[in-house]
Amino acid sequence: MRIDIITVLPELIQSPLDHSIIKRAKEKGLVEVVLHNLRDFTDDKHKTVDDYAFGGGAGMLMKIEPLARAIESLSSERDYDEIIYTTPDGTLFSQSTANKLSLLENVIILCGHYKGIDQRIRDHYITMEISIGDYVLSGGELAAAVITDSIVRLIPGVISDETSALSDSFQDDLLAPPVYTRPAEYRGWKVPEILLSGNTKEIEKWRFEQSLERTRKLRPDLLEEDE
Ligand code: ADE
Repeated sequence: MRIDIITVLPELIQSPLDHSIIKRAKEKGLVEVVLHNLRDFTDDKHKTVDDYAFGGGAGMLMKIEPLARAIESLSSERDYDEIIYTTPDGTLFSQSTANKLSLLENVIILCGHYKGIDQRIRDHYITMEISIGDYVLSGGELAAAVITDSIVRLIPGVISDETSALSDSFQDDLLAPPVYTRPAEYRGWKVPEILLSGNTKEIEKWRFEQSLERTRKLRPDLLEEDE
């Protein structure tokens, strides 16, 4: 899979791409993540990427020309399955969206900034608009990093034990069960006996019940949705 990220602040996303699972996935050749500085697609001396909104109002918008140039330049190299725009007024991101995106070949993520992008870019190029939550970030870069991380870890072969990604919270619309590691007792706080029993079937059953109970208590909304 290849993910191209268009941004005015490449430095802001670089670090999460250079660590942990994304780093390993890149090294294994399972994903290529390429950052593109939007300013490289400007044609004026000041490398202007923003401008005032027609009709007035506070805040600047991202200009149409550099965005169009960046998207067209990438699209001339390969076909993209999705051209994603990160914005607080997009569709709420979820594990099921991450699952779908992880199956794609080529994806562009365009990071929003300022008061947003010229609507014509959304109308003519963007195929998917994603919000990572009902709050406003200073820019779409952190959202792009979140989306990239959640996708990359799902690509087959990225996490060595594939079942590990499949048993994450949300993967089956349930929160993950509580987990414990050694020692079996710490300051008198004991690990549940069942986990030490070696009875795999009973352990699975216990985990499922715990998942269900935690979901009921903490995120009852997950049990109501049918997706
Ligand atoms: N840009 C600013 N806020 C955002 C959000 N919540 N999700 C995605 N992109 C954003």
